[in-house]
Amino acid sequence: KDENTKYKERLYKANLEAARFFYKNLKASKVAVNYLLSRGIDYKIINRFGLGFSLNEWNSLLKYLKKLGFKDEEIISAGLVINSDKGIYDRFRNRIMFPIFDIKGRVIGFGGRVIDDSKPKYLNTSETLIFEKGKNLYGLNYVIKNKSANSIIIVEGYMDCIKLHQHGLENVVASLGTALTLEQAKLLKRYVNDIYICYDSDAAGQAATLRGLEILESVGLNVKVINIPQGKDPDEYVNNYGIEEFKKLIDEAIYITDYRILKAREGKNLKNQFDKIQYVNQVINILSKLKDDVLIHHYSEQLSNETGIALSVIIEKINKSRTLSI
Ligand code: CTP
Ligand code: MN
Ligand code: MN
Ligand code: MN
Ligand code: MN
Repeated sequence: KDENTKYKERLYKANLEAARFFYKNLKASKVAVNYLLSRGIDYKIINRFGLGFSLNEWNSLLKYLKKLGFKDEEIISAGLVINSDKGIYDRFRNRIMFPIFDIKGRVIGFGGRVIDDSKPKYLNTSETLIFEKGKNLYGLNYVIKNKSANSIIIVEGYMDCIKLHQHGLENVVASLGTALTLEQAKLLKRYVNDIYICYDSDAAGQAATLRGLEILESVGLNVKVINIPQGKDPDEYVNNYGIEEFKKLIDEAIYITDYRILKAREGKNLKNQFDKIQYVNQVINILSKLKDDVLIHHYSEQLSNETGIALSVIIEKINKSRTLSI
């Protein structure tokens, strides 16, 4: 083995030992366990996802790993401590810890959540030799174990992902807070053809949905959008209404084109001439990117019925802008 491989193995090992340490801490902390229980997370899923807790101390993990024989330099490279001019200290303190695994099941990093209102709410391992955020998806290692999954649901957060797994939806991954990347889309395409996006219903989540759609589409995935009613994320939705109601949202998931049209329609009054023209042009723009003539006809008819603009005018304009973009 070359030096680089050996070095990476040390970083995997340091992360694994850290996960074990956090896990033991969690089992010993009533406050931390109660936090998870209060959020509806049960013991079984704590164990399955290897959740943990980082103590409210400056160097408990550092001391622990050094005792196991890790060098300062390795612990720094593993992203587990912060390296400042005053010395090194634990990156994660007083947080619920979510180990992040790669598809081979190795611990490559962590997300850590505060158990009160302090900021930042989440802290993640910085980029390291073994942890590149945009190349992994939280939970994917569990999804691919279950070979029967023929679709994958993408959510925003750790909690959303875990909560859905807890209720038996074992095909859920989280995009780790970053905007979905092309690498992540390609990774998903290795396992399935059908994807559901289920981001938070706030403005940030909606914007991320639209960006994510393009990327997923670009690698040839069939994408549907699960719409969570106002102001909620999947975790809160399941807490409030139960998993059966969430499954109904999955059944009601809409195709990307419908989602884009819905977004274009939002906040507009079609009785207002200006709004209406803007809406029609936006939808024409959406439709002119479609390849299937039957679909284009279907949506054009719908637009015509909705706005009273003649079908022939809509089709003509779509054809014009399709020619332009060839
Ligand atoms: N995130 C992050 N850093 C932050 C905020 C968010 O990395 N400061 C990532 C986390 O992966 C988080 C996800 O973005 O899970 C979604 O953010 P948000 O919706 O704000 O958090 P929730 O997952 O809903 O967190 P919770 O339910 O625990 O409050
Ligand atoms: Mn969010
Ligand atoms: Mn949440
Ligand atoms: Mn959220
Ligand atoms: Mn139809």
